[in-house]
Amino acid sequence: MTHVHITSWLLAIILFFVALGLHNSGKQKGAKIVSMILRVFYLLIIGTGIELVFRYHLHINPTYILKMAAGLWVIATMEFILMRTSRGRRTSVLWIQFAIAFLLALYLGLKLPLGFHPFS
Ligand code: HEM
Repeated sequence: MTHVHITSWLLAIILFFVALGLHNSGKQKGAKIVSMILRVFYLLIIGTGIELVFRYHLHINPTYILKMAAGLWVIATMEFILMRTSRGRRTSVLWIQFAIAFLLALYLGLKLPLGFHPFS
């Protein structure tokens, strides 16, 4: 049952871009509200991720640790990008980290045993 996990991070990424779009079009209040909703989705991603680890794989291997670290890294970069954008600071280094972390989480998630397996 990885669908809830996938739905959570897909919606989170959409909300992340909506928050950025609202910010860039000068709608600070809207951006703030969407950022708050996004934080609830962070909890959903982490919650569903932890549930996947504990329900099916009590023997955690290093790939699981890496997968969870990559997932948390994606969340951290989204939060920092929004924070620095709202303060008008540079975000280019964070965007590179976001791209790397996202691809890593995606790759490791798909490589691990549950759900879809395009890489094995
Ligand atoms: C935005 C961040 C994240 C992305 C993009 C992501 C992506 C994915 C993907 C693509 C899968 C495979 C689903 C499938 O094959 O059906 C997956 C599974 C999984 N994710 Fe995440 N994830 C993220 C965050 C997290 C976090 C924060 C955790 C842990 C706290 C986590 C733990 C897991 C676990 C345990 C699995 C199941 C792996 C397996 O046994 O196959 N993920 N994730």
